[in-house]
Amino acid sequence: MTSGDPDAFGSPYRLLSTAVTPRPIAWVSSRGPAGENLAPYSFFNVVAVDPPVVMFAPVATAAAPKDTLTNAVETEAFVVNVVTRDLVEAMNASSATLDSAESEFAYAGVTPVEADRVDAPRVEEATVSFECELYDAHEVGGSTMVLGEVVRAHVDEDVLTAGRIDVDRLETVGRLAGNWYASTDDRFEIERPP
Ligand SMILES: Cc1cc2nc3c(=O)[nH]c(=O)nc-3n(C[C@H](O)[C@H](O)[C@H](O)COP(=O)(O)O)c2cc1C
Repeated sequence: MTSGDPDAFGSPYRLLSTAVTPRPIAWVSSRGPAGENLAPYSFFNVVAVDPPVVMFAPVATAAAPKDTLTNAVETEAFVVNVVTRDLVEAMNASSATLDSAESEFAYAGVTPVEADRVDAPRVEEATVSFECELYDAHEVGGSTMVLGEVVRAHVDEDVLTAGRIDVDRLETVGRLAGNWYASTDDRFEIERPP
C-alpha cells in the first residue's frame, strides 16, 4: 500500500477523477441571455429524494464562470438530461468551448424542446430528463455545488416496464478517467446482505 497526501498521486484531480469512477453524467441544458446552452457535468449525483434533489458541480477556471453555472443561478432553472450510449458522441461534442452566442444544441446535433415547468430547454433525444428548479448553490473551494429540485420528469416509453424505468433497457454511460467511458453492458446482480 502506498499512502500519501491527495497530491501524492499526480494531483487531487487526477486521484479523485480516476478513483471515483464510473461517474454519472448530468447533461445540463439551460438558458442564457444569448440563447440555449448544453454541457456535460460528471461531478453529479442524487442528494435527496424528499424532496428529490440532484447536484452538479462546475469547477472554476481561470476564464469566466461556466455558462451553465451563470444560467442556472440567473434563471433559477436547468434540466438534467441523462446520457445514454446513443447520445455519448453528442454529449462529448457539447463540451466544446463555444462562444456564448453559439448553441451547443446545434453544434452537437440535438434538438432543444421547451421544458414544461422551468425556464430552460431539454434535449428531445434524451431518454430521461429532469426539469429542475434551483434549490441552492454553495461555493466549495474553487467549485460551485449547484443543487436542483426535480419538479418534472420525462421518460421515453421504450425504457418503461409496468410504468417503471427498466434498467435493462436504459443504457446509461458513466465517465471514467480522461476520455474513457463505461456503459452498463456488463450487468450483474448481487444480493444485498440483511
Ligand atoms: C464527460 C464530461 C464531464 C465533465 N464534467 C465536468 C464537471 O463535472 N465539472 C466541470 O466544471 N466541467 C466538466 N466538464 C467540462 C465542461 O463540460 C466544459 O467546460 C463545458 O465547456 C462547460 O460548458 P458551459 O460553459 O456551457 O457550461 C466535463 C466534460 C465532459 C466531456
